Amino acid sequence: MNESDSNNFCHFGIPEIDGHHHELIKMINRLAKSANSGTVDKEMGRVLIRLVDYTKNHFIAEEKLMQSIEYPDLDIHKKMHREFNNEIVAILKRIRNDEELDVFDLMNFLRDWLLNHVHNEDAKIAEVFAARKKALTIETK
Ligand SMILES: [Fe+2]
Ligand SMILES: [Fe+2]
Repeated sequence: MNESDSNNFCHFGIPEIDGHHHELIKMINRLAKSANSGTVDKEMGRVLIRLVDYTKNHFIAEEKLMQSIEYPDLDIHKKMHREFNNEIVAILKRIRNDEELDVFDLMNFLRDWLLNHVHNEDAKIAEVFAARKKALTIETK
């Protein structure tokens, strides 16, 4: 994922959420750099723990936003967040148990999930948010 990928990401026009998405890309890029040995080591585990924390906070912020705009697919979207979180927690468990993990599979999983989720799913929230904002602007005129 390069700079232009991240610049092409959907923009909510909400600095907090947009900032989170950019930071998530940066973290995944950092992970990719530290993954050059081909195995998942303890250092990667530490970066992953930070990623888990970061995504947790991001999901909370995004879910609050969805609630505030009465996003119609809130429950479905929340479920996707939980599933991703569960996957990462399971990966961390495997790292703690010194199980062998293919680092490229892991990176592909993270990259694909993030790209697909933000591009396809978060983009739908951005659309609803823009529509609500527009309607509000018309109402208050
Ligand atoms: Fe999301
Ligand atoms: Fe998101």
